[in-house]
Amino acid sequence: MNDMTIPFATATGLRFPDDIVFRGYAAPSRVEGEVHDLEVEGQIPNELNGAFYRNSADHAYPPLLGKDIFLNGDGMVHMVRFENGHADLKTRYVRTRKFELERKARRALFGAYRNPFTDLAEVAGEDNNTANTSVLWHHGKLYALKESGLPYELDPNTLETLGERNFGGKLNRTFTAHPKLDPETGECIAFAYNAPGQPTRDIELYVISPSGEITSHETFQAPYSSMVHDCLVSRNYIAFLVCPMTCDWERVKKGEPYWHWDSHLKTHVAIIPRKEGVKAIRWYTCPKVAQQTHTFNAWEEQTEAGTTLHLDQFITESGWLSQFPDIRDPNAREKPPFGERWSFDLDSASPEFRMQRLINQIGEMPAIDPRYAMKRANHFWFGTNNPAIGPMLPWGPKGPPFTCVGHFDEAANKLNFWYAGPDSAPEEPHFVPRGPDAAEGDGWILTMVGRRAENRTDLVILDALHLDRGPVAVVKFPYRVHEGFHGIWVGAQALGW
Ligand SMILES: [Fe+2]
Repeated sequence: MNDMTIPFATATGLRFPDDIVFRGYAAPSRVEGEVHDLEVEGQIPNELNGAFYRNSADHAYPPLLGKDIFLNGDGMVHMVRFENGHADLKTRYVRTRKFELERKARRALFGAYRNPFTDLAEVAGEDNNTANTSVLWHHGKLYALKESGLPYELDPNTLETLGERNFGGKLNRTFTAHPKLDPETGECIAFAYNAPGQPTRDIELYVISPSGEITSHETFQAPYSSMVHDCLVSRNYIAFLVCPMTCDWERVKKGEPYWHWDSHLKTHVAIIPRKEGVKAIRWYTCPKVAQQTHTFNAWEEQTEAGTTLHLDQFITESGWLSQFPDIRDPNAREKPPFGERWSFDLDSASPEFRMQRLINQIGEMPAIDPRYAMKRANHFWFGTNNPAIGPMLPWGPKGPPFTCVGHFDEAANKLNFWYAGPDSAPEEPHFVPRGPDAAEGDGWILTMVGRRAENRTDLVILDALHLDRGPVAVVKFPYRVHEGFHGIWVGAQALGW
């Protein structure tokens, strides 16, 4: 590293900085353990058998540089196992190479997010993957994912880290945290950007078979290196947004943030037919500067004019400025995302596409009934704020916390909300169907809820189509687990329980 100061690395005692990323409810939890039979208010539905897994960024050590962003914490995975109305909790750090090296040294050795030029010389060339963003269940295996590194396989019962995986050498150094599961073919559609570990315009596209083999690997080039955090997959197409959150390696070398928002760049959309692959790629340029935050779903509609591809997603017209700077306007403020539908007439030669507001409500962390992935879905769930039913909470290290879970029924054109209560912040919602044959949306929404005044966490179960009726059950954790990002539900049968 250069001449940067390392106040916390050289301090004699271990102490986290007193700032928004490490203070109060955002403070690292660092607790690994298990609680058998959590307290429950209400009744956990007996049909809810399986496990809820979610990942979080929970700094194990104070940051080397004295400060850090929320995104750079160490991966800590939580599992709530549901069995016949009971719930058990397990929490465990992912034993990444970074985690193991720092634990041995009893301090941080790696510097800023994805910036090897800020790491200590003793870890030069070592992988800085924190595996902290999401969890994947596919081909009978559980993985912790972060887009800057390779998947780490975890034991689905104990959360023990089994090791880093590269699928027989077919992955380079990165893998998305948002792969898509095809409910009809059982395939996993995945991708990687900046795969060598440094910025590149190449985007790798993978298909993983239900037995865990990479059966297709193609590469295409984006207009510039961009944070491609999520993607969209319909029955016959894959779509990527390339948004102006870009990486300049020369800036990274100077110790500047890995990403910056450059509103002088344009937002582009790539549409790739799943059968023909990247040789049939088609590019569109967006008429506004837009950042996709996360996606609901993609689906195709057949009309007299041909095939229309719809992309349902959250879009903001600013970058993720709570984490990364705007290089054109240092005073820019992060704008809230809205659910938008972008529609492409694939049988037309027009370079234009339609953009419309899908949900007239700010939101993020989208969810659908996963059985309806890649075809038209009618029900959309998301985290949101609604000052009409509950006051906003103070901004945290990743922006304004949600206070509500929202549900949009498109056919009925109705919005419905659950307000989590005073000082309470729900996280990403997850839909679990009541049974394999239940109608779309007939089931439950699971969401972790931060009880800020009590410094504790709950897992709340809601009736997915009647959020405003309040919880079916509240599964109460006796302590606070760290705020997380993304999770999944895996049924007991799939887990072999
Ligand atoms: Fe994400």
